Amino acid sequence: MTTELAAICVIGAGTMGRGIAQVALSAGHEVSLVDPDANQLEAAQREMVARLIRKHPDAEDMVRSRLHPVTAIADTPVRPETVVIEAAVEDLDVKRAVFNQALEHFGSDAVLATNTSSLSITDIAAGTAAPSRVVGMHFFNPVPVMKLVEVVSGVQTDAQVADSIAKLATAWDKSVTHVRSAPGFIVNRVARPFYGEALKLLEEGAACAETVDAVLRLAGQFRMGPFELIDLIGSDVNFTVTKTVWEAYNYDPRFAPSLIQQELVAAGRLGRKTGHGFYRYDGASERPAPEPARSEAEPPAEVGLRGHCTQLEALLARADVGISRKQPAGIPGADIPLLGTVMVTRGKTAGEESALRGTAVLVLDRCLDPKSTTALAFSSTSERLTAAVVALLNRGGIDGYEIADTAGLIVARIVAMLANEAHQTVLNGVATADDVDTAMELGTNYPLGPLRWCDQWSPATVAGILDNLWSEYRDPRYRTSPHLRAAARRAITGSRG
Ligand code: NAI
Repeated sequence: MTTELAAICVIGAGTMGRGIAQVALSAGHEVSLVDPDANQLEAAQREMVARLIRKHPDAEDMVRSRLHPVTAIADTPVRPETVVIEAAVEDLDVKRAVFNQALEHFGSDAVLATNTSSLSITDIAAGTAAPSRVVGMHFFNPVPVMKLVEVVSGVQTDAQVADSIAKLATAWDKSVTHVRSAPGFIVNRVARPFYGEALKLLEEGAACAETVDAVLRLAGQFRMGPFELIDLIGSDVNFTVTKTVWEAYNYDPRFAPSLIQQELVAAGRLGRKTGHGFYRYDGASERPAPEPARSEAEPPAEVGLRGHCTQLEALLARADVGISRKQPAGIPGADIPLLGTVMVTRGKTAGEESALRGTAVLVLDRCLDPKSTTALAFSSTSERLTAAVVALLNRGGIDGYEIADTAGLIVARIVAMLANEAHQTVLNGVATADDVDTAMELGTNYPLGPLRWCDQWSPATVAGILDNLWSEYRDPRYRTSPHLRAAARRAITGSRG
């Protein structure tokens, strides 16, 4: 089956359909664009020409000669082996009806790809006359810019059909990940904790939205913080995706939606599009920048180091702090004479660490790169210890953001939960580890795939953070994936899996 210069029939001329049609035209295909709303067809053509003209001076001619805008599938030219790409409204009955019309019009050798983001491919296929021809082709918005396409196989999808769609996407210069149909596919599933844990932190009063966003940007190197991103996506859209995934996984607490977000949606505070979400966009007030902690104290001249912790050692080196004695064994931490211990979070609160050690403790959050980070969150049991550690961080060029004493702080908690979901996705056979990482790097622009990030921190460290979160909250959302636990064991025993 060859689809490389097949005729393409895009159904639905909205945001996604016009993006897909544009990419197909650009790649040289003959494209039919179907939408019952003639205004949408006109708007889509105008937008495509305006965008294509930057790269193709003959964009108007190209659109006139190779695009066929029609209001019904029955009016599209029939070509052998047409690839139908459906991007109509997110409604099971509409999608099934559209595919059945397409089968009648193009014949049973047509490929039926759907851009659905939340419906089951198996379910859509089951309502059509040719379930083996139905496959998911999940693009990301804006289609011409975003590199990722998730190619999703339902229970009955013919492997050749999935293969031909993967080849087509690759020919369009997209990166393909192969997915077994499961709610949220890869991206909309693995990304849930990015929002869910941030909302939990807000619900617990651990930190304000500005601080959570700033710490994830500066220490986690995410392009946007979760609250800024929800405001951009629209809180209603983000809330609906969360609810859909939660319901589809039989109300698994890992995906439970947030009451804070539910209230915001009810109040119409949807984000940028309504001028007010977590932040205001109506010019009424500036978004306050979060205040890093200040210190008048002197940084400690020397610390006593226990155990081995790459992040802690990198921070001490940046601050040029001497190490008076080194004990390779034990829970990693740096003892500051007469003040207490500073350590990197392992998922316990500073209060619990302090009780365990019988001394004051300051717990630092994790970051993506301790050699270059400009910020770190922390919580502490002692003001004097805080003053010394903030001075130490400042001397190393790092701003410290104090938050309420919360297990796992911000980056460690959110990244551990992303990694856990990524491991569970692999365990469930939804996608390979490489495809999960690629999908998260290209579909959400994460600075590093969650599984690669987990390996960087070590699977045992991440499993430890999750176990400690579980013991703090006794909430099954924090249960460690057996796939992650196995990776942690392999790393400890040195065996390969
Ligand atoms: P949209 O609302 O911008 O466009 C939907 C279009 O479908 C409208 O122009 C409407 O007139 C048309 N339509 C309705 N019934 C139709 C029918 N029977 N036949 C042909 N066209 C019909 O929606 P959008 O955002 O483009 O989404 C389309 C699909 O893509 C949905 O399934 C959505 O879940 C999925 N998707 C959306 C993403 C996004 O970021 N907007 C990302 C990935 C997938």
